[in-house]
Amino acid sequence: MGSRQHVRDIKSGPPLHYTDDIRAYKKEYAEALDAQDPLRSFRDEFIIPSKKDLTRKTLAVDEGKEALDPKCIYFCGNSLGVQPYSTRRYIEQYLRTWATKGVTGHFVPHEDQLLPPFVDVDTAASKLMAPIVGASQSEVAVMGTLTVNLHLLMASFYRPTKEKFKIILEGKAFPSDHYAVESQIRHHNFDPKEAMVLIEPENLDKPTLSTEQILKVIDDNASSTALVLLSAIQFYTGQYFDIERITAHAHSKGIMIGWDCAHAAGNVDLRLHDWNVDFAAWCNYKYLNSGPGGIAGLFVHDRHGRVDEKQPDSDETFRPRFSGWWGGDIRTRFNMENKFQPQPGAAGFQLSNPSVLDINAVVASLEIFNRATMKEIRQKSLNLTGYLEHLLLKYPLDAPPEDKPFTLITPSNPAERGAQLSLRLQPGLLDHVLHQLEENGVVIDERKPDVVRVAPAPLYNTYAEVWEFSQIFLQACKDAVNAR
Ligand SMILES: Cc1ncc(COP(=O)(O)O)c(C=O)c1O
Repeated sequence: MGSRQHVRDIKSGPPLHYTDDIRAYKKEYAEALDAQDPLRSFRDEFIIPSKKDLTRKTLAVDEGKEALDPKCIYFCGNSLGVQPYSTRRYIEQYLRTWATKGVTGHFVPHEDQLLPPFVDVDTAASKLMAPIVGASQSEVAVMGTLTVNLHLLMASFYRPTKEKFKIILEGKAFPSDHYAVESQIRHHNFDPKEAMVLIEPENLDKPTLSTEQILKVIDDNASSTALVLLSAIQFYTGQYFDIERITAHAHSKGIMIGWDCAHAAGNVDLRLHDWNVDFAAWCNYKYLNSGPGGIAGLFVHDRHGRVDEKQPDSDETFRPRFSGWWGGDIRTRFNMENKFQPQPGAAGFQLSNPSVLDINAVVASLEIFNRATMKEIRQKSLNLTGYLEHLLLKYPLDAPPEDKPFTLITPSNPAERGAQLSLRLQPGLLDHVLHQLEENGVVIDERKPDVVRVAPAPLYNTYAEVWEFSQIFLQACKDAVNAR
């Protein structure tokens, strides 16, 4: 369903087409879009920092007064999502349970609980996470952190032999993924110089990768490759890869494939099960608003999570993995018998009992996401990001695009991107532009020397903010050019 789904989620509700009509460049137009937005009430679920919050030297708050302070424009959900109001309630309930029930909080349910007893919180979290990534509950575990989970998954899915030992990844993969792959290769006594196949952009001015290029690299290395590990959405360019097509192609060559969904989970309408992905991992602190370094998530396709099938070259009946007691069969977990039998599915990849504090934070956010569908969220995102692109590239009407002091490096095809637009500024403009954005209470993120990443998150950002951002950004660019 993947490539088809890719197209369908746009066809079933095409992104709004923004005309060059002068009215489309007015603030009233943006406000009218907000008024018609079916998801507009979700913004009230999130704490958007005020401009004063960002500059104050202390953390002191007087919520009554400060609620009236103008909000910043927070377009940085691709880095750290904002806090849901409900997070505090969940965490206070957790602290209260721990304080008043102690160890009995592990097993005894309470009438006013928001989450089940501590031993069952991971199951509650995976149930809410599954629809976000297009998986069944048994395929998802809320556990660990992203890089740790990538290692755990590679421990299971990267099983190199003398003939097949390479891992294919992007040359510009997020450094943590690069290091994880490199160290896995060394761990198996192979040489990263031979075993790491890096897919490099053909054009550094537009550093995206075509699907054809990726498939060709897979073809060229098919007989010696054990694993492909790619990002679903590239952190730097914002490019959304064709997961279904690339996965099918790797499988046709007998190669396992995993996806780093850090920038995709909670952003695009993933279909990890239907796309037949072998495994995936993501963090929850970006588009999923669970707080810095919060507990992460992983996906293992049902076909790899079985625990009752004879394994090649092993006396075990489940896929090899690094094990810990929390991945063990729930019915015998507390028997302490030293006979590891995993739970079926992704939960069988857990090691430790999870941080209940962390799980409360992620559940607070997932509960909000589950009040909508990823299809609806994606639909708004397509419209919002399309509007941002329109305003940045077409406005003002009298300036031809080639005179713009920046270029878009994210694909212009909406099906090939999520919420993020990456803009490359002309050399020497970045510091001035960043300073002016900060002065105006805009939060985005930069990648030195010259790229800014702008990510309006559909659940809490508005069309009016996109409009206002474009005014501030274009003015900042103009001023930066004049100041050169
Ligand atoms: C694509 C990608 N991979 C890996 C990481 C590392 O994440 P963590 O520090 O949670 O392991 C990040 C962090 O932003 C990321 O964006």
